Formats: sequence, C-alpha cells, structure tokens
Amino acid sequence: MAPLTSARHPVAILGAAGYIGQQFVRLLADHPWFEPRWLLSGPRTTGRHLSELWQLAGERMPTLGDDLLRTMRPAALARAGAFAVFSALPSGTARDVETELGRRGVHVFSNAADHRGDRPPTLLLPEVNGSEARTPRRGRAWLLTNPNCTATGLALALRPVLPLLEPRAIHVASYQSLSGAGLPGLPSLATHGNVIPFIEAEEEKVSSEGARLLGLGRPGSARSVPILAHCARVPVREGHLESVTVEARRRPALRSLLEAWRRFDPLALDGLPSAPHPPVELRPEVDRPQPVLDLWAGDPARARGMAVSVGRVRWTPPHLRFTLLVHNAVRGGAGGSVLNAEFAMVRGWLPLGA
Ligand SMILES: NC(=O)c1ccc[n+]([C@@H]2O[C@H](COP(=O)([O-])OP(=O)(O)OC[C@H]3O[C@@H](n4cnc5c(N)ncnc54)[C@H](OP(=O)(O)O)[C@@H]3O)[C@@H](O)[C@H]2O)c1
Repeated sequence: MAPLTSARHPVAILGAAGYIGQQFVRLLADHPWFEPRWLLSGPRTTGRHLSELWQLAGERMPTLGDDLLRTMRPAALARAGAFAVFSALPSGTARDVETELGRRGVHVFSNAADHRGDRPPTLLLPEVNGSEARTPRRGRAWLLTNPNCTATGLALALRPVLPLLEPRAIHVASYQSLSGAGLPGLPSLATHGNVIPFIEAEEEKVSSEGARLLGLGRPGSARSVPILAHCARVPVREGHLESVTVEARRRPALRSLLEAWRRFDPLALDGLPSAPHPPVELRPEVDRPQPVLDLWAGDPARARGMAVSVGRVRWTPPHLRFTLLVHNAVRGGAGGSVLNAEFAMVRGWLPLGA
C-alpha cells in the first residue's frame, strides 16, 4: 500500500535534545513521508544547537536545514502548520502539551507514558494489536502512544506463540541498559560494575501494558494471565535483554512454536518504511542474543534496531523459556512512534495533506 502525497509532512520533535529525541532526529531526517522542521526542547537546552549536544554513539548527526533548539507553544506550532509531533517529553510533562496539540489538530505520536492508559485506547504496537486498533481521536487529531520499551520486546516476542500455549502465567526478568534512563545518564559510581535491582514503576508498566497489548485481561482480575516482572539496570550502554518463562496449559510440538515465530510478519504487505521483516529474528546459537552483537537486528536498512531477537528457546512442558533482546530507544522508543505514524498513515487514519 502506498502513502499519500509526494510532499513530506512537516513535523516537530518534542524533547529533541534528549536521548529519544536524538533518535527521532536520526530516524526522521531522511524519512520519505515526514520532514523534521521544528526541534523543540526544555529549559536546559533551548537556544542551543543540537550539533553541540549530539550524543548517539557511532551515529553522525544528520544534516538538517536548521538545528536550533526552540520553545514553541502548541498554538504556535499549529499556526505554523505542523502536521504532527513526535514526542520524547518526560512522562509527567507530556499530558497537557500533547492533549492541547491534539485539540488544535496536530497529530501526536508519543513515547511518554502519560496517555498510555487513556480511554479510548492509544497504545499501539502494530504487529501485536494493530488489527484491533481503532482511531484514537483527541480533538481534531489522533494521539497514539507506543508501549514501554521492555513491554514492547516482551509483547512482540510472545505474540506469535501465545495462541499455541494458552498461558497460565508469564515470568520475565529484565537486564536493562543505562540509556533507558535518558540523558545525561545515571551517576557512574552507582552503575560501574554494578546491578541495580529496581527501576521506578517499570515492573508495573511491563505487567499492565504487556497484558493490554496481548489481551491477557486486567491484572489482578479473576480470569487474567499475570505477567510477573523483575526489572534490573545493568552496566550495558544500549539494549534490554529479557529472560522469559511461560507456564503453558497446552503442549504443542517445539517445531510448531519455532514455525510460528518464523512465519510471523503481519505487516508484510503494508509497505511501511520502518517495519522490520521479519519483526522477530530467531537466533539458533546457544549464547545469543547479546546486546553487543544483536542490538541492530532488523531489515531493511531503515528498520535497523526495529526487530526483536529471540534465542535460547527451551521447551520443557509446561514451561517455555527463551531470551529476547530489544533496542530500547529504537524499537522500544523513537522507532516505535515512527512505525505507529506510518501505520496510521497507511490505514488511512490521517488526512492526506497537512
Ligand atoms: N530512554 C529510553 O530508552 C526510553 C525508551 C522508551 C520511552 N522513553 C520515554 O521517552 C521520553 C524521553 O526519554 P529520554 O530517555 O529521551 O529522556 P531525556 O534524555 O531526559 O530527554 C528528555 C528531553 O525532554 C526535554 N524537556 C523536558 N521538559 C520539557 C518541556 N517542558 N518542553 C519541552 N521539552 C522538555 C528535555 O530538554 P532539556 O534537555 O532542555 O531539559 C530533554 O531534552 C520519556 O517519556 C521516557 O519515559 C525512553
């Protein structure tokens, strides 16, 4: 399916100087459908140039027409003709700004948690719940949120095999990278050679957002399937590793499970520039996935970092165990919002032309 018009839609990046904001700049600079025209930031960085603050290891800052970081109110952004915003605002500051932008007709694709629990639902992971998704309207525009980075990896990896297993419970232990805490990062004395077995509100997000995406019922309700999470911060730069155990009611053959993973590609025909094919890459080696080796899984080139790697699959009924790796800032962050925007465009949720 093809998009729209040949012109690129002018968009703003909110929180452009932050870790996710810089990923948005990288992903949108040469995007075929969107043109990043306004880089907006907070009080610490407004007035500076993004080139002075660029932090993405191994990635040159792309050439932009204008890399000045500014402050603009929603009304000014709407008047200037912004088609959409890609939001990397801190959770807690995003709600009012994003609501106001929607009210003024600017589409919002957000990484922040503030609107994830809204009714009607805004939470979208296209390969997982895209077929059930409706058009979440805010004022005259659409507001879509991508899930928490750890929940994203878990839901994508589980989607193909859960119908075969009929789970009773899902256990997950995460080993989350330092970049998950954003810029400027955690103090080196706390993290060097250390593991911190607590990340504020993370286990709750993994359980509740994972359950919503996978249709496992409201956590705590009588018929729900619990997701029991332990989340730890480890001294890794990028990439969240997760060890998963599913307690299953059914006993399919191992080859059926592997086949379900291999065949999974629900966006194969949609023509979304940032969709990885396949979205789940199975690793046969005994010691993969690893952040250093598998962080950038995803084909084609625009979808680097968008696939989840799954390995160490062990099926000892009733327990399925495996390890997954997700790029927290690409698939679990900015890339997730970009894919949501592409999905909305192709499903015809957005009007053609700004
Ligand atoms: N890091 C990850 O792996 C990850 C993954 C998924 C989702 N997320 C979510 O993505 C969002 C951004 O995370 P991050 O890691 O990029 O954090 P970050 O590095 O701390 O960046 C946050 C950015 O927001 C800007 N900002 C703060 N208040 C603002 C305001 N009132 N108006 C405009 N800009 C404002 C800050 O600007 P100043 O620099 O001027 O203060 C900063 O550039 C958060 O909601 C986070 O939960 C993060």
